[in-house]
Amino acid sequence: MKEKIEKIEALKREKGVVILAHYYTRPEVQQVADFLGDSLALSVKARDIEAKTILFAGVHFMGETAKVLSPEKKVLIPNPEATCSLAESCNAEEFAAFKALHPEALVVSYVNTTVGVKALTDICCTSSNALQVVESIPREQPIIFAPDKNLGSYIKKITGRDNMILWNGACHVHEKFSKEGILTLKKAHPEAKVVVHPECRGEVADLADYCGSTAGILSYCGESDCDTFIVVTEPGILAEMEKRYPQKKFIPAPSVEGKACNECEYMKMITLESIIACLENEAPTIELDEETRQKASKSIEAMVKIG
Ligand code: 13P
Ligand code: SF4
Repeated sequence: MKEKIEKIEALKREKGVVILAHYYTRPEVQQVADFLGDSLALSVKARDIEAKTILFAGVHFMGETAKVLSPEKKVLIPNPEATCSLAESCNAEEFAAFKALHPEALVVSYVNTTVGVKALTDICCTSSNALQVVESIPREQPIIFAPDKNLGSYIKKITGRDNMILWNGACHVHEKFSKEGILTLKKAHPEAKVVVHPECRGEVADLADYCGSTAGILSYCGESDCDTFIVVTEPGILAEMEKRYPQKKFIPAPSVEGKACNECEYMKMITLESIIACLENEAPTIELDEETRQKASKSIEAMVKIG
């Protein structure tokens, strides 16, 4: 592993490539990242970074978002098959037909969407800023919220907005956390706080002491007086939690299938080997249709302005 990491560092220097990685990637992939973040921070970084070439260690929609915001940059993705069940749950053509049924509605889409869906969107959001984005829209304005019905229901519940029309999509990882499994862990660790990603089902989010994005969860764990946390999101985040707060204890929540934790197989497709091959070949890259890119860019920029 040490040699592979050294090889990546040398290739990065030689080719002037910056690696962006999401918290859900493998710990060794996080180790070679120049910047590690949640989807909002990674989008902003991809836009502002000076390097001519970015390697996105994350799933496909993240690389697409980087290319939408920085068309002049080369965006490398180590494995184009690393997609996302949530983004895949919303097909652009079907979404266009759904949108046509609600012409009065403004479209808010989670950043976990394909570029085609972003092109049909008025304002994007991430789990970090979904509440702010929805609250920036006049209360009487109907909203289509896509594609995550769980995040949508959560925002609908806390804002009390009945005029949010939800697309029926979900993340297969976050849908599978077990309420009973978390309750059992809580009994064994009564002092622990439960931190939950809002892509989880409502009955799981209801158990949360804190519900928010990966970056929000990390900050909460650092600021809290508590030193034990039951972590209800993809366990790749544990590497950064343990690095930042070595004195605290993090317990991954189990899945409904009884697995001790619940990994995103797409994020785990990004390996050191695939990063080396991608740097050596300077491929695969993200290529987008320019008209679609420009439309998608407006919805992401509208989000970045809000925060
Ligand atoms: P964050 O927006 O919290 O980073 O999580 C999004 C996600 O599920 C990426 O897979
Ligand atoms: Fe997509 Fe879920 Fe994996 Fe995130 S954890 S990339 S939302 S499938």
